[in-house]
Amino acid sequence: MANPVTLVTGASSGLGELFARACAKRGDRVVLVARRKNRLDALARKIGGAAIVIAEDLSDYDAPEAVVAAVEANGCYVATLINNAGFGFRGPFREQAPGDLADMIQVNTATPTDLIARTVPAMIAHGGGAILNVASTAAFQAGPNMAVYYATKAYLLSLSEALHEELGPHNIKVTALCPGATHTEFAETAGMKDSYLFKNFAGGPEAVVEAGLKGLERNKAIVIPGAVNKMMVQSGRFAPRSVIRELVMRLQR
Ligand SMILES: NC(=O)c1ccc[n+]([C@@H]2O[C@H](COP(=O)([O-])OP(=O)(O)OC[C@H]3O[C@@H](n4cnc5c(N)ncnc54)[C@H](OP(=O)(O)O)[C@@H]3O)[C@@H](O)[C@H]2O)c1
Repeated sequence: MANPVTLVTGASSGLGELFARACAKRGDRVVLVARRKNRLDALARKIGGAAIVIAEDLSDYDAPEAVVAAVEANGCYVATLINNAGFGFRGPFREQAPGDLADMIQVNTATPTDLIARTVPAMIAHGGGAILNVASTAAFQAGPNMAVYYATKAYLLSLSEALHEELGPHNIKVTALCPGATHTEFAETAGMKDSYLFKNFAGGPEAVVEAGLKGLERNKAIVIPGAVNKMMVQSGRFAPRSVIRELVMRLQR
């Protein structure tokens, strides 16, 4: 019989590192996935509990297959999947390199989809499981000046909601976690540290991780951490889309 593990993508920094720490603390055996192996090794040493390190570039088409094969080679199956790895770029669409955009689409949408497809059969065979997809408040509207990133998160939210319904009868919980601006390495990678959004609205990552794990435990379809983020998403539902687009464009400046 294979042993259950919790697989966290993007565990080398930010939210992913905190997810891994929190899951290890509650007794899960964790699998740490990202590119920076030195960071994953250091984290594995710190959290102990026979953590498994898998260094993969998740923009590679073949990476999900390799990740799941490595888990199985350790005599394990993924009982909890935390699709957290992701990144964005701020700036006009016309200035972004097509190859970089393709990598973003792969990491933020195709890879999590592939990982879900490859791990769900074993979850069902073992009587259930849990999937946490880290989307964003960006998922709820279009994002001029960060167009592709917002679109990838809309995809992930849509996929999560659909799978929440489809997989529920198989005892698999599915939650989309939708954080707003949060202090991690994300803003640096995205070139957003000086943006109005991050300078005025960014919060700490601990509360985001806690809300995500609690929401998954309760099988909430969507979790939006923080009162301000919830309010922004809710108010966006009633305002004309043209107004929201213009507002987002300003926030991303
Ligand atoms: N921070 C925010 O404001 C915010 C808000 C809403 C949603 N989110 C979402 O939260 C998730 C976590 O981001 P974060 O805020 O924790 O940012 P972060 O500190 O930059 O962490 C991103 C993680 O993704 C991994 N990653 C990126 N590209 C990868 C690739 N090609 N292959 C494998 N791993 C890759 C990175 O690992 P390596 O570089 O070592 O590969 C890193 O561990 C992302 O999906 C992000 O979109 C963040």
